[in-house]
Amino acid sequence: MNTWKRFKEYFLHLDDMGISLDISRVHFEDDFFTKMEPTMQSAFKSMDELEQGAIANPDENRMVGHYWLRAPELAPEKSITEEIKSTIKKIHAFTHDIHSGKISGEQGSFKNLLVIGIGGSALGPQFVSQALGSPKEDKMRVFFFDNTDPDGIDLTLSHLEGELGQTLAIVISKSGSTPETRNGMLEAEAAYQKAGLTFGKHAVATTGTGSELYKHATSNQWLETFPMWDWVGGRTSELAAVGLLPAALQGIDIDSMLQGAKTMDIATRIHATRENPAALLALMWYHATGGRGQKDMVILPYKDRIALLSKYLQQLVMESLGKEKDLKGNVVNQGIAVYGNKGSTDQHAYVQQLREGVNNFFATFIEIHRERNTSPVYIQEDTTSGDYLEGFLLGTRDALFEKDRQSITISVPEVSPERVGQLIALYERAVGFYGSLVGINAYHQPGVEAGKKAAASVLDLKQKILTTLRSQKGTFQTAEAWAESMKESASTERVFKLLEHMSANADKKVIKKAAQPWHTSTYGVK
Ligand code: PA5
Repeated sequence: MNTWKRFKEYFLHLDDMGISLDISRVHFEDDFFTKMEPTMQSAFKSMDELEQGAIANPDENRMVGHYWLRAPELAPEKSITEEIKSTIKKIHAFTHDIHSGKISGEQGSFKNLLVIGIGGSALGPQFVSQALGSPKEDKMRVFFFDNTDPDGIDLTLSHLEGELGQTLAIVISKSGSTPETRNGMLEAEAAYQKAGLTFGKHAVATTGTGSELYKHATSNQWLETFPMWDWVGGRTSELAAVGLLPAALQGIDIDSMLQGAKTMDIATRIHATRENPAALLALMWYHATGGRGQKDMVILPYKDRIALLSKYLQQLVMESLGKEKDLKGNVVNQGIAVYGNKGSTDQHAYVQQLREGVNNFFATFIEIHRERNTSPVYIQEDTTSGDYLEGFLLGTRDALFEKDRQSITISVPEVSPERVGQLIALYERAVGFYGSLVGINAYHQPGVEAGKKAAASVLDLKQKILTTLRSQKGTFQTAEAWAESMKESASTERVFKLLEHMSANADKKVIKKAAQPWHTSTYGVK
């Protein structure tokens, strides 16, 4: 297997960043780029228009401005430039006041952060916190509520026991009305109250001006609010206040993150396809998946710190590209499935199937050259654990290739704020280009909204069941009978599920009298 010739031809090294992209192990023909060039040029054109302030998210009638966050001078309106700049300034000033103890909690200076958000308002902050944090150097310890799971919330709170008076809560929600985040906030408020503390004296919000959360924060005199703009999407908001504020508070160098992203933006703005790493990535995705999502994207970062990159990209790619309709309204059911965790760990999990099982994926290896920031430990003569890690990466890459499995490799000198900013920017742009290649709106998320509505109707039904059971105390009936008596026969399955759920939790006092077969069990309130 001599791969060198093709590798030389299709290896792109970005000298100013030290990052490189190898696409030689994707099985495109030599004329692929020629064939795709007109489509790619039109993707460049759309991207230019987007950066100049076009309504690139037509379904929501919004501009798409995440690239301005690291180059505010490029924003199409002066007011936007000023808002971005003043927000970054405000983040620095607030961070300084928190770190210096000028702003402190009711029980002393802040030493913990409790970040409350979900989706685009959590995944970026989680990825960055893990990638760039270090317990020894961090200014604050960071915790997350990223779900409406009470047990998960308790688990997180248990780490903060006795320390809430020195814990700063950041509630992040662009819309300010996401139920999971609102619940997290209410749970946090209850915990602070139980500890004899005023939540508002320990809380800040990052949200759209005027949102429910904004009103709640201002009317309860929270410490501060930071803006989220409608021209920044949730999943591209890591370099807005959403991601910058928690990162800065943790002690991460956010200016370097921004600088990194800006440098990558310059490299991915050019129209020379073969020199543009984001264009190459998007084209490789297009080739590997037939432009129809026919293969899954497996992300394999060989570095523990960036294991969450896979999860972060899963949202960025799947929420952006997974769309029912194209921009013309045709049903296309687009998307690319993304999964992954980290190497070499995953070699002892699903890589077996990647190598020998169904060939329904292409892998992206993320190779990080710097092994560690401390002195080396030799496992054997001249060999470190890091040499093994590299060995596993190169070995797996070859093993996949030998079995006709395609892969892309991104090589990065080290994990640093600048590199993380670059990786984020690289993938943001690749997703944008891919959206153009397949003709979809990559910047809205109707499926997420649909999920929110569906949950609301379930909660209404739960309340109806509870009211009905309470109004007929002592009556025990099957789920089917309750559904019928409430004229909800079409939702009998939901009624059954909700009765099972309520009877498993003592608080609502719904009792289950188990019987056989299972569907003859009865439920009621005594
Ligand atoms: O990327 C997105 O747009 C979504 O994942 C949102 O970030 C998520 O639904 C949370 O929304 P919000 O920030 O409005 O609470």
